[in-house]
Amino acid sequence: MVPQLEDLGDVRGKTVLVRADFNVPMSGPDDGRIIVDDFRIRAALPTINWLSDRGAKVICASHLGRPKGATNSKYSMAPIRRRLAELAPGVELMENLRFNAGEESNDPKFVNEIISGIDLYVNDAFGAAHRSHASIVGPPRTLPSAAGRLLKREVEVLGELRNNPKRPLVAVLGGAKISDKIGVIEALSKVVDSFVIGGGMCFTFLAAKSLPIGDSLCEQDQIAFCRKLLESKVELHLPEDIVGLDRDGNFATFGVRLPDGAKGLDIGPGSAAAFADIIMGGRSVFWNGPMGMFEDERFAAGTRTVAQAMSETKAFTVVGGGDSAAALAQFGYEKDVDHVSTGGGASLEFLELGDLPGLSALRGAPNVN
Ligand code: 3PG
Ligand code: MG
Repeated sequence: MVPQLEDLGDVRGKTVLVRADFNVPMSGPDDGRIIVDDFRIRAALPTINWLSDRGAKVICASHLGRPKGATNSKYSMAPIRRRLAELAPGVELMENLRFNAGEESNDPKFVNEIISGIDLYVNDAFGAAHRSHASIVGPPRTLPSAAGRLLKREVEVLGELRNNPKRPLVAVLGGAKISDKIGVIEALSKVVDSFVIGGGMCFTFLAAKSLPIGDSLCEQDQIAFCRKLLESKVELHLPEDIVGLDRDGNFATFGVRLPDGAKGLDIGPGSAAAFADIIMGGRSVFWNGPMGMFEDERFAAGTRTVAQAMSETKAFTVVGGGDSAAALAQFGYEKDVDHVSTGGGASLEFLELGDLPGLSALRGAPNVN
């Protein structure tokens, strides 16, 4: 059993380290970054407030970006610390954990550093619970520990989707990289009734069907994997039209064959309508990854249509991942889906394996019998 906040005993007067995932989207110049979406910060508030209300002193810690073990002002926690101070006055926030190489290498010396002066540990960093990093797996080795409310809810919802889905279960996948998602695509192919594939990753699938993709994103080393999947029994829907830029950089609509020099940046209107129909027909739908470069209004329509279908379908809807969650919020459908996961990679890995390093670490904590 993963220990819950109640399993920490009396927290009054205790100093509690809350490992959160405040890896939020940021924009602006390197020395003056601003938060684009504070969803992940707000999502940690139930846990932070639960502890504060019971008299604990809360110290939060998170990573931000991938600074690769070196201090880098671009990834400073300062903007997040300011936002946290507005949302939860009096709560502290450590500097970016990944400024120390010991975080990602899970160095015991770094674990000791972050738990010095700490009485209790709470993991509420669902989005990072798939990383065997120092702050995720280290503290529960020695400190009484618990899962925060966010981590708990994520595991309940995704567990239900994985183990007991209402069918048909549709997985809508997008985003740039297939290589990040191979494991989960393989695992999901045993669970889902159909895949809908858009976003940057669809071009590697189109290339695997020997279609010309121009200068679109392509992971050459994943073509064989895509081909294998296409030849399997899995029901897989790919775009039938594409929008993007032609060789002169002008907005253009294409079929599935892209001319030389063209770059696909979103699914086309026909594909968006077809994908929406499949979403409407599902009884459970999991969506991870945008359908195109939605930050640019010219290439936002595919993602917007999928987001709208997610909001309208009667299916049980789960959206995983920072980008898809940001897209939902941008289009105003955040409140119209059943669950918005704060984890991208973590939700995929949980769906794949049914467990995460952060969860198994908590199960081994000294307060668990
Ligand atoms: C995320 O946003 O995916 C999580 O915060 C984990 O970050 P990472 O992919 O850099 O480990
Ligand atoms: Mg990630």
